Amino acid sequence: MEVTVDSRSPAQAEADLLAIPLAQLAKDTRALPARLAGLDRALGGRIAAVLAAGDFRGKPGQALCLYPDTGFGSRRVLLVGIGEESAFDLEGLRRLAGSVVTQAASRHAKRAALQVPALRRTRPAAAAQALAEGALLGGYRFDAYRGQADDPPGEVDALALLFDRAGDVREARAGARRGSVLAESTNLARDLSNEPANALPPAELAQRAQRVAREVGLACRVLAVPELKRLGMGAILAVGQGSAHPPRLVVLEHRPRGRTGAAKKGGPRPVCVVGKGITFDSGGISIKPAQGMDEMKHDMSGAAAVIGVLRACALLRVPMHVVGVIGAAENMPSGTAYRPGDIVTSMSGKTIEILNTDAEGRVVLADALHYARTHFEPRAIIDLATLTGACVVALGKWATGLFGNDAPLVEVLRRAGEATGERAWPMPLWEAHRKAVRSEVAQLKNATGREAGSSTAAAFLAAFAEGTPWVHLDIAGTAWTSKAEGYHPRGATGVGVRLVFEALEALRTARN
Ligand code: BES
Ligand code: MN
Ligand code: ZN
Repeated sequence: MEVTVDSRSPAQAEADLLAIPLAQLAKDTRALPARLAGLDRALGGRIAAVLAAGDFRGKPGQALCLYPDTGFGSRRVLLVGIGEESAFDLEGLRRLAGSVVTQAASRHAKRAALQVPALRRTRPAAAAQALAEGALLGGYRFDAYRGQADDPPGEVDALALLFDRAGDVREARAGARRGSVLAESTNLARDLSNEPANALPPAELAQRAQRVAREVGLACRVLAVPELKRLGMGAILAVGQGSAHPPRLVVLEHRPRGRTGAAKKGGPRPVCVVGKGITFDSGGISIKPAQGMDEMKHDMSGAAAVIGVLRACALLRVPMHVVGVIGAAENMPSGTAYRPGDIVTSMSGKTIEILNTDAEGRVVLADALHYARTHFEPRAIIDLATLTGACVVALGKWATGLFGNDAPLVEVLRRAGEATGERAWPMPLWEAHRKAVRSEVAQLKNATGREAGSSTAAAFLAAFAEGTPWVHLDIAGTAWTSKAEGYHPRGATGVGVRLVFEALEALRTARN
């Protein structure tokens, strides 16, 4: 879908479906808002008639389709309620665009247009970005394996954003482009996460990263088992050893281009974005119950987000050195699997007592974090991982768990969460949690009791971030949804791509 921007009036738009947002009418009001007078005239008074009848009050989510006479530019006019004007924000714009696209698709409308609602204190660029994001995210479907349905849903080819003021168009176009790239990168992350585990073992995940890198101009290196052994990555190797599909470490690198197009050497230290890439988490020998185990195909959602973030950095030419590191492995029970009681030596030299093979994410990340830290000497590390069920219990699908060893960096992520609608909520990480992951027989243990499970998992990771400013995003509750919600269809949400991109932008502008 292409999202375009122009300043034609809604009556002039030529669309299969023209969407007109309406704020909630004040109590006892049935009058037409002044802004719609011209459009209503062109429609022969249809909007005024609907409002006068009291059938449309502008409640959020309310929608009503009108069919104009021939001669009007658009075939359908969809009135959409946006609720209280004062409560309407960027997230409201995303939801609005998402629902317009879904409704256009269900009516097989190929070209849609949307009158951009006037938003106080919001720049046209930010509004257009949010609308483009909502449209492309809301229009996403994963139907690679569905075959031909009897009545396949339509697909929207184009959405025109209609701004009132011609002066806003230039700025809005830049915003729409940015929103489109971010949403497409999120959809790429969703595709990877939705892919079943039989189609996406670690080697295939690595190849997909390589393909993206070629397409957008990132450097990409894939480390296979001999290299992991040479580097002493005993942790990721232990998790992967039970599977017929061996582990990989994937490194993606975006360097800002100079005017000549050549990569700039030296320069400020990079930011590393590290992702958990468990392509399937059966739990291993500490096997999970059957119920819901299929969802563990999504256990590489952190890795998927890393690929999405790096793609967006390349396409939007972010003038900042950003490195992605993915630890990819499949966690399976077998005769060669790692066991409870095993002690493994990570690349850092730290020894880990395995008490539960289902706490595999932190074990893989131990090596990925250490590699990122020592190989790139980053100024900051951001990791994303579907790490703990405890985080799902604490925050549900409403927020990503946010942990870290650097208060300003945590605040950057929290703010980015508010700005993007991908909320990240600060969680405790204290000395007590660090103590809880000390082992009696090794330096660390990978599992503790049930108490504060997401904090003790974070404390385990903190041991491998050491002194580097680091934040950990536990996306276990936010990476997928079992039923459609707003602009997220059922399945992978692609969470983290927009959140981390926004945080990178904040770090760049604050410290450049
Ligand atoms: N991938 C899971 C965490 C998870 C659970 C993500 C539910 C999304 C939904 C992780 O590898 C895991 O199994 N964690 C265990 C850790 C425990 C054994 C210490 C958990 O949370 O139960
Ligand atoms: Mn697990
Ligand atoms: Zn897992």
